Amino acid sequence: MSRLCGIIGIISQEPFTSQEVLSRLKKLEYRGYDSWGYWNGKTLTRKTGKIAVFDDKEPVTAAMAHTRWATHGGVTEANAHPHRAGDVTIVHNGIIENWQELRHDLEAAGATFRSETDSEVIAHLVRRLRTQHESMENVLAALTEAVQGTFATLIMVDGDPHLYAAKRDSPLALGVCDGRMILASDIYAFSDATQRAIFFENDEYAIVSATGYRFFKHGAPVAKEPHTFTWAAMEEDKREHAHFMLKEIDEEPAALARLIASLTGEQRADYGKLVALIRGAQKVVFTAAGTAYHASLLGASFLHQQGVDAQAIIASEFENFITVDEGTLVIAVSQSGETMDVIEALKYSKERGATLAAIVNVPYSTIERMSALSLQILAGQEVAVASTKAFTNQAAVMLALAQSFGYANGLAALPEKLGTVLALEPAVRALAKRLSPQRDLYVLGRKLGYPVAREFALKIKEISYIHAEGMMGGELKHGTIALIEQGVPVVALVYDGDPKMRSNAQEVRARGADVITVGTREEDDFTLPAASEAEFAVLAATLGQLLAYHLAKELGRPIDKPRNLAKSVTVL
Ligand code: M6R
Repeated sequence: MSRLCGIIGIISQEPFTSQEVLSRLKKLEYRGYDSWGYWNGKTLTRKTGKIAVFDDKEPVTAAMAHTRWATHGGVTEANAHPHRAGDVTIVHNGIIENWQELRHDLEAAGATFRSETDSEVIAHLVRRLRTQHESMENVLAALTEAVQGTFATLIMVDGDPHLYAAKRDSPLALGVCDGRMILASDIYAFSDATQRAIFFENDEYAIVSATGYRFFKHGAPVAKEPHTFTWAAMEEDKREHAHFMLKEIDEEPAALARLIASLTGEQRADYGKLVALIRGAQKVVFTAAGTAYHASLLGASFLHQQGVDAQAIIASEFENFITVDEGTLVIAVSQSGETMDVIEALKYSKERGATLAAIVNVPYSTIERMSALSLQILAGQEVAVASTKAFTNQAAVMLALAQSFGYANGLAALPEKLGTVLALEPAVRALAKRLSPQRDLYVLGRKLGYPVAREFALKIKEISYIHAEGMMGGELKHGTIALIEQGVPVVALVYDGDPKMRSNAQEVRARGADVITVGTREEDDFTLPAASEAEFAVLAATLGQLLAYHLAKELGRPIDKPRNLAKSVTVL
């Protein structure tokens, strides 16, 4: 998802300490991880870097914390959240568009700002609004009116036994526990504590205590009931892994088997409805970002091969590259279900009368709730920043959909075949060791291998920080080949000895490239057990994830966080 920030607030009858808040905040670190902060009602802690333990054992009954991905203002302690103004403390995820005007007015009225962020205006504004309104209910109403832009914000006032929350466009959920409420950017943060959640709609704000809540919108009360979600803690049976990324790659066979069972079981009806929507649409447009976009490219290609007019458009450029209307089915693909660019593309499509569907991992996410119909990929929680098992399951949903249009595939056999790919790990580790001194790497693919080449390269860039380009084999000669010289590593994805890919591999080999072939034949450097090009695409992507992981490990990059979060926080 587009990284912005993660927020969490806990209010409880039973006291708790910073350790619990930070272990929950850790679960949101995938949203942003350049700085973080914590407020326990008395002391403010703000740090740059990834969330780390700190020795605050003071029991409290309300606290909040924030993990940041800087958008306004550099990565400094002063710019980290929470922000304070007088007796008001806030955390914020989103972008306040009119922050400069607001700041100007507030400064003119005497406020002193201490950060370069847009978010700090919320603290000062609440402080000022409290002098103008008697109740916090009215303060929040005035706040949501005054602020333009996107926000999920939590507010605490010194000496006031409530947590206050408001949201527009940025995600915010309230986890309802016995004698405790947890407000967070998504249900990851509390899914081990409760399976009952209330999702904020735009412009809603709430007054929350340890035992209750009141919701409002534009000054009027809103009745809200918790939803029960069943997705939580599917990965309880954690094995010992050095990193979440590796753990999540290892979970792929199990996660895929779970999805396949669900598509013929509990999700069967929705699966059938999505097939019917595709059949009835004049054209199908997948929209997504990053890894999910690569899975979408696969989906578009599978359907296209079956005569369906399907394409995949990167969400952030959606309106510049596609026309949508009442005849269009727009399918958003998103692990988190919260990626802002995708949400914007859906809004744009809805305004033009398109039908919206979603393929998501996180249930009740914004994208799921915006869509008329949604399929869940059931990958389980992805804690690592790198999306791995979600890609596999997104691609599998695409395959399953295409199957209804006559596209033959071996979905049922794929979990076992993924296991075979995972068994190649020692060879992948050896390759990573060999490639780790390199600064650049190229990945070439054709047809279904093209999206996989891009995904392969994205993972390597994101995790190992080696520059990697994934491209169409046929496009190489149109410029990029100039960069291929002696010793440059080129991974060629060659399904079943595809002669065109072989010839692309030959072109770069002739220039001295260190060519590594990933294919399905004995002579390939890595032989994958794929019986079709589609299977090859899924399996090769997993091999790329493993390579990215081992390159990063070899180079000592910060891959993710330690596997056992709860444990790592308890040892404080
Ligand atoms: O949550 P989403 O699937 O919408 O996120 C989209 C991308 O930000 C995401 O896939 C990103 O590219 C991955 N972290 C890459 O590993």
